[in-house]
This record gives sequence, structure tokens and C-alpha cells, in this order.
Amino acid sequence: MHFFRYHNGHLYCEDVDLARVAEKFGTPLYVYSAGTILDHYTRLDAALAPLDHLICYAVKANSNRAILNLLADAGAGFDIVSGGELYRVVAAGGDPARCTFAGVGKSREEIEYALEQRVYSFNVESEAELDYIDRLAGTKNLRAPIALRANPDVDPRTHDYVSTGSRENKFGIALGRLPAVYERASKMRNVEIVGVQMHIGSQITEAKPFASAIKKVAPIVRELKLKYGINFFSIGGGLGIVYESSFESGTKAWWDESVGRDRRARRGKSLSIREYVDAILPALRDLNLRILLEPGRLLVGNAGVLLTRVLHIKQTVEKKFAIVDAGMNDLIRPALYHSYHEIVPVNQPIASTSMSKSKSKSSMEKIDIVGPVCESGDFFALDREMPEVHEHHLLAIMSAGAYGFVMASNYNSRPLPAEALVHGDRFTLIRERQTWEDLVRGEVEPEW
Ligand code: LLP
Repeated sequence: MHFFRYHNGHLYCEDVDLARVAEKFGTPLYVYSAGTILDHYTRLDAALAPLDHLICYAVKANSNRAILNLLADAGAGFDIVSGGELYRVVAAGGDPARCTFAGVGKSREEIEYALEQRVYSFNVESEAELDYIDRLAGTKNLRAPIALRANPDVDPRTHDYVSTGSRENKFGIALGRLPAVYERASKMRNVEIVGVQMHIGSQITEAKPFASAIKKVAPIVRELKLKYGINFFSIGGGLGIVYESSFESGTKAWWDESVGRDRRARRGKSLSIREYVDAILPALRDLNLRILLEPGRLLVGNAGVLLTRVLHIKQTVEKKFAIVDAGMNDLIRPALYHSYHEIVPVNQPIASTSMSKSKSKSSMEKIDIVGPVCESGDFFALDREMPEVHEHHLLAIMSAGAYGFVMASNYNSRPLPAEALVHGDRFTLIRERQTWEDLVRGEVEPEW
């Protein structure tokens, strides 16, 4: 799960009081737990031990150099989707020979850079792209290692925006067409067939869609192995995490007790690493191929929080709002996908410690947690039952380690937030907060 815990009413990340980190670096602030990331990586790696495997961390989930460096040192490869991501991996000491380059629209500049860096594989999404890569590799007198992305047409039963493995999506090549495209590729002078890839979607919380997709693609993989001697089968990423009540039972007792069993029962659906691996292992084992995984969220999602301070409380006839200093530009997931993020106070309200159970129950309230951006979609929680929230309170928006900072923008001319990393009892800044000067850097007024 994660290494965020309450100690005497204070929320800690590993051995560090989060209030101290906010004090030092200000808010809004992303804070990541290195221990949690490494724990997730190690557990996944161990569960995959029966297979020849490589975990290619999906850089798009969180691309801070410090995080990439942590995972590179742990032995990870990387799944990249842009030249910029490859540049980051290289800057963080990652090995391009352990990188797969995915994405439906790679530019000339990106393909050339990836060829020069000798990436492990280009994951090709269309015939047009295959031709393009062949041509560009030819101009450099190189052979591009390629895998075609299979579209297995399965429903991953997740949010529409992050579902990628069904026929209507723009991703991959239909299974029926795949053998013919491989045949074409085999005749190209400047590409080398090295594998097969697929990815059916993100935040998937059951094992079944993964197993069905593998079952559908495995017979083709077997054939391709015989015909072209491919080296790997990448089964993509997509493992879901728990967003709701993500604390392990007992660690938030003071609050859970006051909310009662309901909340504990509402604990989000999760797919454990064990369940996932047990479901995929049988079909993969007898392929006798190297298996690649591209997890993003699983490794970093629960390993990060967004700390934000309450600026004002606004009570209207209908509602009570806590207006916080983070906005949809800092974490867009609730606005974009209506996604749920647990929100907890960094310091347990003093009153509730000394209160009896029944009294602390009455200090719960329903509140909207909203940002300062000029849009009604700028919210983190609506009608959320929370311990009473007051001005200047520090809140932690949980499970913000994946697709948090990476999707942040300067909307409303708000500087990008800072990022910090905790490891044991140490903490450090891994990205400076942007300044107002940064906002206008690179902008020029025409001279005419
Ligand atoms: N491989 C490919 C080809 C992908 O497209 C993705 C994610 C991954 C791997 C990693 O998926 P993960 O293990 O993290 O689920 N912004 C959205 C998520 C978009 C995911 C896009 N592709 C969100 O905030 O939920």
C-alpha cells in the first residue's frame, strides 16, 4: 500500500512529519515516498520471478528525474511516449537499451533521437508509422527494432478516457490484421522485428480483462515467435490502485471510528499484485519469451500526496466550501475524470483527540474542497464528509503520485507546484516551485 501514517495525530510520510515538509517548501506541494515506490517495484519484480521479465516503468505517470533515477537504480527499464521522456530517462541515468518507445504519433525528430539512443523497441501503432520508421532508419543506415501494438478488443471496464484496448480506440492494430502487417515488416530493410506489445487501459481493478487479452493474443505471439524469432511480449500496464480509504486498517483509527463502519466498507476495490500475477502467469509461462510490463500508476500512485493549505472557508446557504491553495491546474484528475482522491487533514484536529466517540462524530461535516481557479470544475471533492476544516489547515490529497504533477499546467498563470521526496527520515526538494518570472520566460513581444 503506502508509507503514509498518523503518529500522535500527525500525518507522516515514512519517518517525516508532512507539516515540516510543507513548512519548509510551501504549498501546494507534491510529496513522494521513495520507500513506497521501491516497495511496489520490489514486490512486483518478486512476483514475476517465474518469468524472464523486464519492468518498464511508464514514465508518463510521474517523470521527475529523481523518481526515474530511483527506479533505474532498482533495475527498471522505461516505457516512454515522447522524445522528452527519453531525454529525461537519459538525464536520470536510465539505460535507453531498456526503453520501449510507444505512442500513436511519434515525430521525425523523436524517432531519430530514439534511433540514435538505441532504444530497445519502437512500439508501432499503425502501418503508416511502420513505413515512416523504416524510412527514417534507412536514412541513418540503421535498423529500427520494432514491436507492433496489438489491439485485442477487450473491455477493461474502466473510465472511457483511459480505455485503450477496444476496437473503437485509436490504439494498436486489430488482431485480424496483425499477421499481415508483421509479414510486411519482415520484408522491410530497415526494421527488425523484436516483439509484440499491447496495453488495454489504465486503473483496471480486476484481473479478468488482463487474462482475456493475453489469452486472445497469445496464439499469435506463439506464431510470431516461430516465424520471426521475436524476443519479447509486452503486456502493457494498467494495474489499478486503491483511491478510496487507502490507509491500512487501524492506521487512521481516530477518524475511521468517528465515521464508522460505512467508510471502511467503502474501501476501494483493489487488485493485488498476487491476484494479477496469478491470473496472467499460466498463459505467459509456456510462451518462453521475455515478458515486459509497463506499470505506471501501480508503482507511484499511492506513493505521492499533494499538500495544500486552506485559504478560506466560505459558507453559503447551500454549501460549505474550503477554498484551498491547490487548483485543478495542479491536479486535474477530479476535474477531468471525476476521479476520487481521499483527502485527510495533516494534523488531527486537537478537539477530536480528547472528545468522546459520539462527540467526535458530530465534528464531521460535509464540505466541498475547491481550488482558486475560475471554473466550477475546479474541485477536489464534493459533499465530502470530513473532520471539521478550518482556515490555514493543511490537507493531504492522497494517491496523487501518478498523473498528478505530470498533468499540471500553468492555467490561470499559476506557477507549477514544487515536488519533494522523502526517504526514511530525510526529505529534499526534487523540483523547485515555479516563479512568476518563469511564467513569462520565453515569451516575446513582436518588434513591429
Ligand atoms: N503503457 C501504455 C502504452 C500506456 O498508454 C499507459 C498509460 C501505461 C503503459 C501505463 O498505465 P498505468 O499502469 O499507469 O495504468 N491520466 C490518466 C491515466 C492515463 C493512462 C495513459 N496510458 C489518469 O490520471 O488516470
